[in-house]
Amino acid sequence: MSPAEKPSAQRPSASADYADAFTPDPDPAAAARESATHLGLPAVSSGTAAALTLITRAIGARTAVEVGTGAGVSSLALLAGMEPDGVLTSIDTEAEHQAAAREVISGAGIPNRRARLITGAALSVLPKLSDGAYDVVLVDADPLEYVEYVEQAARLLRRGGLLVVNHALLGGAVADETNEDDETLIIREALAATQSMDEFSPALLTVGDGLLVALRN
Ligand SMILES: C[S@@+](CC[C@H](N)C(=O)[O-])C[C@H]1O[C@@H](n2cnc3c(N)ncnc32)[C@H](O)[C@@H]1O
Repeated sequence: MSPAEKPSAQRPSASADYADAFTPDPDPAAAARESATHLGLPAVSSGTAAALTLITRAIGARTAVEVGTGAGVSSLALLAGMEPDGVLTSIDTEAEHQAAAREVISGAGIPNRRARLITGAALSVLPKLSDGAYDVVLVDADPLEYVEYVEQAARLLRRGGLLVVNHALLGGAVADETNEDDETLIIREALAATQSMDEFSPALLTVGDGLLVALRN
């Protein structure tokens, strides 16, 4: 089990708990979270979900890509802030997870056409999506592929769009210099890539399990 999947790793500090309690889940997210628990899936924290809604709303997002649908907690948060005609494209290897997400999205009264759920491996699907066509890319799937997700996001995002990476601090593992687990090393590499690539201007937020937000220059 990776640090990101350990329940304790989701709660790195009292401040993170306070921040999550500050913006509790709206009703539809509670149903998605229940579904996630049932499937044994981690989901973005309520504070992270609030940040996702804020991000999509602040930039008037019409198009977003989500890498890692899960049971739909983050999908609902993104859609809540997007324009009423906005379309979320969400990718997951597991049809069962997407079926659960579809149920909560429909249950929230969101038309099916606003959530394009694609079942497949992210690194097979992302290259098929159009260049510069997206306002937001959220990364929340396999940490071992984070570097490739960042590279794909640089291509997919329009200028002024935002890359958002969940589990950027991985339950404290990323900040722990003695931790050299594969997932930790690769997340550090992905964070460093956003610092060194001309395409991005990043900020690392300590909400939830760590949220990297990077402007596509
Ligand atoms: C942490 S969960 C996503 C949680 C979701 N973002 C939320 O907050 O509700 C990670 C998801 O990524 C999916 N996944 C793992 N590896 C993947 C890959 N290589 N391509 C696409 N999806 C993947 C898993 O099936 C799982 O549903």
